[in-house]
Amino acid sequence: MRPKIICHMITSIDGRLLTGRLEAPIGVTDRDALIWSNYEAAEARLPHDGWMAGRRTLQRYASGQTTHDLVSPMEREDVVGDPGKRKIGVLFDPSGRLDMAQDCLPDHLVYVFSTRVPQAHAEKVCATGASCLFAGPDGYDIASVLPRLRDYFGAASLLLEGGGRLNGAFLQAGLIDETSTLIMPAVDGLAGVPAIYDQPGASGDRPAAGQPMRLLAVETLDGGVVWLRHVIERR
Ligand SMILES: NC(=O)c1ccc[n+]([C@@H]2O[C@H](COP(=O)([O-])OP(=O)(O)OC[C@H]3O[C@@H](n4cnc5c(N)ncnc54)[C@H](OP(=O)(O)O)[C@@H]3O)[C@@H](O)[C@H]2O)c1
Repeated sequence: MRPKIICHMITSIDGRLLTGRLEAPIGVTDRDALIWSNYEAAEARLPHDGWMAGRRTLQRYASGQTTHDLVSPMEREDVVGDPGKRKIGVLFDPSGRLDMAQDCLPDHLVYVFSTRVPQAHAEKVCATGASCLFAGPDGYDIASVLPRLRDYFGAASLLLEGGGRLNGAFLQAGLIDETSTLIMPAVDGLAGVPAIYDQPGASGDRPAAGQPMRLLAVETLDGGVVWLRHVIERR
């Protein structure tokens, strides 16, 4: 059994990902403070045992980028650390590129690697007390990882917190149960800026096909940010 997955994101009214590009709403001087206070207040109201994010989103918490050659795919055993009373933070880092200090985030870090990450890198990461799980030869087998997060850490509910690529992969795999979307009173407007769900594919592909949604709640937060919550069902 896998945890319930709630995708929690903040966006412009045209659904774009990069909040640093947006104008502050009228009457608001500090755009970033408005974004973070609303994002964190909403997050605190969503029951969850941890969060998940993609390698590019997490890069800003890293001290740098690790460079190493990938090895041939091989049998790997998960290494499970002890989160204690902490939440878990799941880092989807297929090639083992993130160089994270032990205390860069307050949560118990769980790295999801491909089976091609060098053993020395996995051992270095595990030596910090973090957990390392393996998700196939490309590291993209998210469906196989989720039940292990429940088995190893008792995670019943997790927030999926971007970016657009990882959200898109979860959506296409039918692995999102609810969405929690904060809409800033701002438009991005530039063609090509990524969306908060951003799965690559051919023009006829429909990553959300067969996944109708139902509105759960709407609330207006500080600065005119609108919080929408939806449930996703699967046909
Ligand atoms: N508006 C918001 O609420 C919000 C929230 C979070 C992030 N962001 C912004 O989003 C941007 C990053 O988003 P992004 O879409 O470029 O990247 P992302 O989703 O954060 O990370 C994508 C990377 O995750 C790895 N990955 C592991 N498994 C994957 C899978 N199954 N499918 C796809 N990727 C997988 C890959 O790493 P490799 O490349 O190493 O293979 C991939 O390139 C940042 O600018 C961040 O600030 C915004």
